[in-house]
Amino acid sequence: MPAPVLYCCDPLNPRRADEHFADEAREVRAAGGDIALIDHDALLQGNAELAVARVPEGLGAAWYRGWMIPAVQYADLNAALLRRGSSLIVGPDRYRAAHELPGWYEAFTDVTPASAWQPTGPGQAPPLAQLSALAAQLPSGAAIVKDYVKSRKDAWDQACYIPDLGDRRQLQRIVGRFVELQAEFLAGGIVLRAYESFVKDVTAAPELRVWWLDSEPRLITPHPDSRSTRAPAPELDHITPAVRGLGCRFVTTDVALREDGMWRVVEVGDGQVSDLHTACDPAALAALLVGR
Ligand SMILES: Nc1ncnc2c1ncn2[C@@H]1O[C@H](COP(=O)(O)OP(=O)(O)OP(=O)(O)O)[C@@H](O)[C@H]1O
Ligand SMILES: [Mg+2]
Repeated sequence: MPAPVLYCCDPLNPRRADEHFADEAREVRAAGGDIALIDHDALLQGNAELAVARVPEGLGAAWYRGWMIPAVQYADLNAALLRRGSSLIVGPDRYRAAHELPGWYEAFTDVTPASAWQPTGPGQAPPLAQLSALAAQLPSGAAIVKDYVKSRKDAWDQACYIPDLGDRRQLQRIVGRFVELQAEFLAGGIVLRAYESFVKDVTAAPELRVWWLDSEPRLITPHPDSRSTRAPAPELDHITPAVRGLGCRFVTTDVALREDGMWRVVEVGDGQVSDLHTACDPAALAALLVGR
């Protein structure tokens, strides 16, 4: 029997899967898999018991597929499931490792831009001395700022791209604006990453999302934000050992072709919370989850 999959329910109709995941959930069922629903809003509001109230007792070990969950609430979800004779296949420790940059960075150092980070809380930009110390760990030149999970690429010039790490005022201003925009959603802390130049080919997706199950690249899709859906086959042989080293069963790597011809990992994510491009067939993802 394939492992069941927990989807987020529709906030307005808790007996149904959230519209965003409904087609995929249907495909899981069509492929012979079982699904159950959790309440993502309740979980993020701190009520994990309510969040799992519709999960049948004794369901066993399950995948999750849905909206991102902060690592602390993911652990709450697993604890609440355990009390009902169920659990998450990806334990809280491996979820955090794939979801937050400091968790996956070490395994990927050779294949991803150099990065340095500093824990901080929502609304709290690190003082300039700390930012300068972080910048000093990276090669000189341009960088980007993000938190442990997300960037503000929507505000690229104001709050993401740092043209020159040596310009302390610029560094402070851009990180400050990033912290302001992230507000209460700032996850974990501040990450600075050396900027690398990727090939700009408007006829192809600039980033590809590789879906790895048990360290095998099983599905390659355009990044969900891509306008183009043409996905050239990336070279992955040098990335496979990093994925294996991380030791997480279901992860995504977003890869981009650097101008020197190397495929680089822009970001790692837990496959359970990685979004699928709307042009992709949800049956392909469902097939992975039910082991087809
Ligand atoms: N080190 C880097 N060098 C060059 N460009 C980068 C670098 N890091 C990120 N970018 C660019 O910024 C974008 C956003 O970065 P990243 O994917 O890390 O953030 P995100 O907000 O988590 O995005 P996503 O929507 O994929 O979850 C990337 O898609 C890439 O175009
Ligand atoms: Mg990304």
